[in-house]
Amino acid sequence: MANKTLEARFRGLRREAERRVQERQREGVPTISIVMSTCALASGAAETRDAIKETLERIKVPARIVPVGCMGHCYAEPLVVIDHPASGFPPICYHRIDAGIARVVIRSFFEDGDPSFEYVLGALEENDLVPPVTQFPRFNLEERVVMELCGRIDPGDIQEYIARGGYAALARALDGEPESVIDTIERSGLRGRGGAGFPTGRKWRLARSARSERKVVICNADEGDPGAYMDRTILESNPHQVLEGLAIAAYAVGADEALVYVRAEYPLAVKTVQKAVRDAEACSLLGRGVLGTAFDLKVSVFQGSGAFVCGEETALIQSVEGRRGMPRHRPPYPVEKGLWGRPTVVNNVKTLASVPPIVSKGADWFRTIGTENSPGTAIFSVVGNVKHPGLVEVPMGTSLRKLIFDVCGGIPGKKAFKAVQIGGPSGGCLPERFLDTPIDFDSLAQAGAMMGSGGMVVMDQDSCMVDVARYFVDFTQKESCGKCTFCRIGTRHLLVMLDRITKGEGREEDLEIMETLSHDIKAGSLCGLGKTAPNPVITSLRYFREEYEAHIRERRCPALKCRALVAFYIDLERCARGCDACVGCCPVEAIFTTKGRKKAIDQQRCVKCGECMVACPPEYNAVFKVSPPERAPVIERPPENGPAPAGNP
Ligand SMILES: Cc1cc2nc3c(=O)[nH]c(=O)nc-3n(C[C@H](O)[C@H](O)[C@H](O)COP(=O)(O)O)c2cc1C
Ligand code: SF4
Ligand code: SF4
Repeated sequence: MANKTLEARFRGLRREAERRVQERQREGVPTISIVMSTCALASGAAETRDAIKETLERIKVPARIVPVGCMGHCYAEPLVVIDHPASGFPPICYHRIDAGIARVVIRSFFEDGDPSFEYVLGALEENDLVPPVTQFPRFNLEERVVMELCGRIDPGDIQEYIARGGYAALARALDGEPESVIDTIERSGLRGRGGAGFPTGRKWRLARSARSERKVVICNADEGDPGAYMDRTILESNPHQVLEGLAIAAYAVGADEALVYVRAEYPLAVKTVQKAVRDAEACSLLGRGVLGTAFDLKVSVFQGSGAFVCGEETALIQSVEGRRGMPRHRPPYPVEKGLWGRPTVVNNVKTLASVPPIVSKGADWFRTIGTENSPGTAIFSVVGNVKHPGLVEVPMGTSLRKLIFDVCGGIPGKKAFKAVQIGGPSGGCLPERFLDTPIDFDSLAQAGAMMGSGGMVVMDQDSCMVDVARYFVDFTQKESCGKCTFCRIGTRHLLVMLDRITKGEGREEDLEIMETLSHDIKAGSLCGLGKTAPNPVITSLRYFREEYEAHIRERRCPALKCRALVAFYIDLERCARGCDACVGCCPVEAIFTTKGRKKAIDQQRCVKCGECMVACPPEYNAVFKVSPPERAPVIERPPENGPAPAGNP
């Protein structure tokens, strides 16, 4: 390094971090890592941790319990890793470890030397004793750049991040000119991961050339799309990689102030980032005179109130300024006039977290991953009808088929794939024929969807595309800030039409009106919310038009989803006389006994909850769902079998 003070400061930090981490390893006690991210906590990880601690105390085994972030395998939470070299076993990752199982696993492992194979997800190292995790296609198909350390370090311990090479990219950047950092990012071809895919290097160059004494960099962690949790997970699992990217961005553009904008609905992410900022300041990695240089950077954490539109950069800036979060006209763009009138760079969490590896390993290395126009990796939170929902990071250019079927295990329950919704509420629904589309900014846009910020909802044969479009329009309509007439009222009209179609009250002319209105809303809206809100309608009309027509013309929901258009009935041939399984589960006493001592459903009372279908034993499988509802056979309720009087148990 040319700057000797900087080099000495950073080398000292690194050496101290490595010493502390090695010291812990030398202690020889087993390390038990427990995933403690929001997804894990929702699955009972806190109870698992308490059970592990209690069992270790009871059997008098000293161990180091380390909370780690999300590994991306949300379907398998709570996840626990036991690393005890003296046992002869490699580090073993256990899945679905609730408190009860945790007690069993800990006792067997430490008392009997039995690794409890039935709960093993895989060994984290190649070995001859325990099948390694690399045998799962998911581990070989993923390529982790942003999430490399997620689930492998304690997010609350800055020493672990530094010891594994963290903040070296910042030190390297500070040792050179800001221009050369921008040059590297430009050459890497990094495009913004917040949705639009704008070239990051170009954005930074524009901000750098803006004339102003003071500039600002904002990390956009608003993440309001339903089903999306990538940014939250990264902040919870490895906040320092994001802060390091933020600091490099600030140095490159000449900013002395930075902000992490994270929604208050993400309390763990807020807490984790706040601590990370304090720890980085204490190590002179943020704050005044970073690593002994003249670069100052004040970082604060701002909690958003959870409006989807506040993820839009100009609305976000207004909300930080204490005003109502509403997008404003651009230009001027934030890079010219942003927060408090200062040139402001707004970048997504994943964009910033991609920066340290690029600065450390070089632009050419980054370009070896992904495609020509979309280098690097794509991170998706995959939810819906897949066997292994969770967070995945794959090289750009990976096909949707590979992601859904190989990485995420395909569709459960032997059901057929129907569609995938990419790009959040404003994305498009793509049918099966698009499964070989490569995941990159341009290919997805060509197919009528968009990268978005990383939400992906997979749907099987039981999903009604009219209902899906209704769900997303309901979301965007409620989240519209109301500034533009087309967005405010147009989405409302779309919703009214979708609503009535799902109720079997659609009109023949609705489809044409929805198409025209969708294009008008796109044209007449100021910001991305209104410009993309009709996308689910446009794509579902394009690819699943026959479903709309069935709803309108036949009052039929082909997916048997829309409640108003279905009915349940019991096949008398299949019903077993004495089995009362359905009767007990019906919440409205709609099931009665026929004259032939079989069961039947009173269609007037039935609220279509579907509980009887679940309760009917598989050997009879006597409950059916049909659409239109008139297809259900009508069976008169015998008078003596009438509904129980109100209040009668
Ligand atoms: C309605 C709406 C919501 C948005 N929400 C987010 C968000 O949650 N996170 C994000 O990074 N970008 C979001 N964006 C995009 C931002 O306006 C901006 O383009 C992005 O933060 C820039 O970062 P990037 O260049 O790193 O992609 C949203 C845009 C719109 C129109
Ligand atoms: S398009 Fe919708 S959300 Fe965007 S500014 Fe206009 S009214 Fe507000
Ligand atoms: S669908 Fe629900 S309400 Fe209707 S008969 Fe079955 S259990 Fe009762």
